[in-house]
Amino acid sequence: MAEQPLWDKGGASIDERIMRFLAGEDVRLDQHLLPYDIRASIAHVNGLHRIGILDGQEAKALVSALESLLDLVATGQFVLDERYEDGHSAIEAHLTEQLGDIGRKVHTGRSRNDQVLVATRLYLRDQLARLNIAALDIAEMFIERAKADAATPMPGYTHLQRAVPSTVGLWCSAFAESFIDIAALSQGMSRWIDACPLGTAAGYGVNLELDRQGVADELGFTRVQINAMYAQNSRGRFELGALHALHQALLDVRRFAWDLSLFTTEEFGFVTLPDRFTTGSSIMPNKRNPDVVELLRASCGVVEGATAELSAALALPSGYQRDLQATKEPMIRGLSRGLAALAIVPDLVASMEFDRARMREAITPAMFATDRAIQLAAEGVPFRDAYRQVGREIESMKDLPIEQSIAQRSSLGGSGNLGLDVLRKRLDSLRA
Ligand code: ARG
Repeated sequence: MAEQPLWDKGGASIDERIMRFLAGEDVRLDQHLLPYDIRASIAHVNGLHRIGILDGQEAKALVSALESLLDLVATGQFVLDERYEDGHSAIEAHLTEQLGDIGRKVHTGRSRNDQVLVATRLYLRDQLARLNIAALDIAEMFIERAKADAATPMPGYTHLQRAVPSTVGLWCSAFAESFIDIAALSQGMSRWIDACPLGTAAGYGVNLELDRQGVADELGFTRVQINAMYAQNSRGRFELGALHALHQALLDVRRFAWDLSLFTTEEFGFVTLPDRFTTGSSIMPNKRNPDVVELLRASCGVVEGATAELSAALALPSGYQRDLQATKEPMIRGLSRGLAALAIVPDLVASMEFDRARMREAITPAMFATDRAIQLAAEGVPFRDAYRQVGREIESMKDLPIEQSIAQRSSLGGSGNLGLDVLRKRLDSLRA
């Protein structure tokens, strides 16, 4: 660490090894937060100008230096390294290098504690927006596939045992509806975190009348996070909320991947995937393996692990504690990996090829037993008696009234009445 730490009052004894331990991976991780930190710094400077702490010239100089720093970061010309303790120190060091004493004024009325909070919150807002779009795109693709194969027969399983006739439409629209709900969840989560913590400083406010509302408005927040201590206490919590929403999406990805890894086996043979989703074996020349699907399945565990790790770091008393820095790595790892996984899914969904004959062959006469029992019950036989009667006849069942069985599942949400237009309306209203 070549740069003097921000908190060095002069003559602090600085042990290189301990400083490296304190900073940890923080500098590298702050690269993800840096553009947000700079944007928040611009709003902070404008706020200080409005209350007369910075004069017009100083504010202008700071804002333009921060704007060019934003460009340098975007074009990869400003990269954080071990010279700095963290991204916040790097911004101030850069401003001081560019503007001298004016640069040294930027930190008036703020703490790195509210600085990291606001940068993280802006970052989370973007990540949740990505989750929302990804969930809607995936839902859209599943609706398309459900529509195209709405009545294509597919066995329905419980306990992985053949149960009743079902359809590709039902299987696909199950995921469509779930991803629509996840988009709604991510939008709700976005509203939860949409509160500006800047101006709470180290968790106790400052002896200035900061224009907190103006700063929140400039950064596009719909509300100010009022209580200074609550702002600190929410560090990690809002991150956890975003990871939880993402985890919900990955739970579906994992389940879908599991289904695919079964359905693409020779034993099932219901689905084939294009070569780009498979890889070969280094030893077995005959193999095509669904590695992409398997790594998608594994991504859920990565997000789940990140969630657990982040949550574990929050067992703390009120106020800022340096432990909170340990929330940053799992947040970034979990969000990056989870969103990268979601980005693959629409193409995968679009590319599935169904073997309709294989799926039809897998529907056996015994799978109509439940239909038969319910039919008898509808004709007036008490259901339990009908159930027993059909149970005795199973071996002799021969008919395969597949289309009829599917069409008759006509209450909303059954394979004969998928409600795709209702889902489509919900999806569109979430896009608006
Ligand atoms: N890197 C620190 C973090 O992520 C920044 C805040 C440091 N604050 C402090 N009081 N030491 O939490």
